[in-house]
Amino acid sequence: MNLIFLGAPGAGKGTQAEVVSDTLSIPQISTGNILREAAKNGTEYGVKAKAAMDAGELVSDEIVIGILKERIAEDDCKKGFILDGFPRTVAQAEALDAMNVQIDKVIEISVADEKIKQRLGGRRVCQGCGASYHVEYKPSKVEGICDKCGDKTIIRKDDQPEVVLDRLKTYHEKTAPLKDYYAAQGKLVTVEGQEEVADTTKLTLAAVGVQ
Ligand code: AP5
Repeated sequence: MNLIFLGAPGAGKGTQAEVVSDTLSIPQISTGNILREAAKNGTEYGVKAKAAMDAGELVSDEIVIGILKERIAEDDCKKGFILDGFPRTVAQAEALDAMNVQIDKVIEISVADEKIKQRLGGRRVCQGCGASYHVEYKPSKVEGICDKCGDKTIIRKDDQPEVVLDRLKTYHEKTAPLKDYYAAQGKLVTVEGQEEVADTTKLTLAAVGVQ
């Protein structure tokens, strides 16, 4: 099964994509995590991407489409994959269609902007593997340490309040039009994000059709 997870920054698409990835044993492909890793390693495109990410803007379609094309050609994607944070513009969606990638469903996690601002303030991410936590809603077992790999958890630079406002603006301008794009293809399923992660997960698994 090939799935897309769509939603505003901090709506919880990464959290939900991770659960579905574990449930269906197919990889979760987060373009955000791939770009952050490249920025950390100082690769040529990583350096270019970092400036856009830190400012709450999108990285260029050209860079992101190139990354995605290479990643989905890898062996672990043969049984299916979950795109978490791609596509983010109509041009990216059109590029995916042009690659003849068959998408089964697009799951939109919908959360109001006010709620998002609150959530991102409490988010912590692992600097090693990128796993995501929340100080209140999804704490790691030991504060400041990742449950999965034992590395440190940190606050993302783009989770600062002023950058969050820019990310939300970018989302409404550039990414939200994808809802109409995929609704027209009959693939869009909207999940209303709930207060508790577990409650959202129940709705997500039902939307994907695995429960
Ligand atoms: P990316 O890493 O994809 O960031 P984002 O879209 O801004 O999404 P987030 O990862 O911040 O949020 P999420 O929806 O996954 O929420 P999460 O599950 O963590 O991209 C970063 C940057 O890279 C972009 O700004 C852009 O510059 C660039 N980029 C990436 N892809 C690109 C592309 N395709 N094109 C161009 N540029 C691209 O949840 C958030 C928090 O809330 C967590 O702490 C979580 O624990 C908590 N939470 C989750 N669910 C709940 C719940 N139900 N109740 C309470 N808390 C919850």
